[in-house]
Amino acid sequence: MADRTGPKQPSSRGANAGAFLRGMLSAPRTTGAISPSGRRLATVMAAQVDPSSPGPVVELGPGTGAFTQALIERGIAPERLLLIEFNSEFCDLLANRYPGVRIVEGDAYDVAGLVGEAGIAAPSAIVSGLPLLNRPMEARRALIKSALELGSPGMPYIQFTYGFGPPVPAGNAYRLVGPKRVWLNVPPATVWVYRRGEAR
Ligand SMILES: C[S@@+](CC[C@H](N)C(=O)[O-])C[C@H]1O[C@@H](n2cnc3c(N)ncnc32)[C@H](O)[C@@H]1O
Repeated sequence: MADRTGPKQPSSRGANAGAFLRGMLSAPRTTGAISPSGRRLATVMAAQVDPSSPGPVVELGPGTGAFTQALIERGIAPERLLLIEFNSEFCDLLANRYPGVRIVEGDAYDVAGLVGEAGIAAPSAIVSGLPLLNRPMEARRALIKSALELGSPGMPYIQFTYGFGPPVPAGNAYRLVGPKRVWLNVPPATVWVYRRGEAR
């Protein structure tokens, strides 16, 4: 794990596209998309976070920062954000672009371990851009369970997918709110919100 911050550089579509292309060529299943999420999807993801709910916001798989930007615009101060990203080129780009944001280069499926190492208090929300459908059901279930256990019972775990069915069905350990379809994204996406508690 590496934890970084850096000086600010402006966002650039060309830089984002180039970084995604290199990610897709070197690690297609991990990168999970040929381009960053669109603004509409990012806005819907960020809208699931209540900025007045205190505590850090953890973002898993931020890529080039589509959701990071929307979270900041939603009113989450950069200092409240902890980003966990596997790809070191994305980490460098994020560190340059978002001063004050904490960036951890590591495996988001170990979210409990990395959040613990970062020494942060209970998150108020966890926002995931991970390509969750590329993982087996047991890994998805384990991630969502461990992520939800980091926060209070009402804390949202927010996930988008390109599928129509939930990435993990609601169960005894958590309930599912949604879906919210975002037809204007390319490809169209669905936003799912999990919270601890009984299935509805
Ligand atoms: C589909 S892209 C989404 C990027 C960004 N959130 C967006 O919507 O444009 C998936 C991102 O998750 C990252 N990722 C995939 N597996 C990961 C893992 N195990 N730990 C941390 N990041 C991971 C990829 O490197 C990539 O940045």
